[in-house]
Amino acid sequence: MSSLRVLLTAEQIQARIQELAAQIDRDYPAGPIYLVGILKGACIFLADLARSMNTPARLEFVGISSYGRGRTSSGEVKLTKDLDVSVEGHHVIVVEDIVDSGITLSYLIQLFQQRRPKSLRVATLLDKPDRRQRTVQVDYVGFHIPDEFVVGYGLDFAEDYRNLRDVCVLSE
Ligand code: IMP
Ligand code: MG
Repeated sequence: MSSLRVLLTAEQIQARIQELAAQIDRDYPAGPIYLVGILKGACIFLADLARSMNTPARLEFVGISSYGRGRTSSGEVKLTKDLDVSVEGHHVIVVEDIVDSGITLSYLIQLFQQRRPKSLRVATLLDKPDRRQRTVQVDYVGFHIPDEFVVGYGLDFAEDYRNLRDVCVLSE
């Protein structure tokens, strides 16, 4: 039997998102910003972040598959859904649910740099710095968390638990 233990409550998450949004508003006095969410995990964070900001934002999504269905990414990343628009000359913030090895983000950053945005930054709700294999600069971090497998608030295990309001540690 697997069990869930609350790590971050819905209230903690919402309070932190208000702070991140205020910081983004200060950093980008003029919009629009393209918020590029990585499906599917980032969709809930992106929706709350976008609505907490005052800076005008446009919403885009990309799909990524990192081969394997386990708890860790395999190291091989493939784009399964690209942007619908050109972001050339625009501000872009890539929005991620969690940065773990950094493999997904380093791949995407390299890809998006080739699209010549005006600026490119990264926002993540969660960061597990202990597990980093690739150096990636993350500009906006909600919470640094220990090396435990978490679900909820968009994060899944085999597609389950995404609609939990809290972030929880999943243990067997
Ligand atoms: P990275 O490429 O290793 O940084 O992996 C990032 C992706 O792995 C995230 O977008 C998540 O989909 C997934 N992931 C990493 N850690 C967790 C976790 O603790 N719970 C759920 N998904 C995770
Ligand atoms: Mg995932």
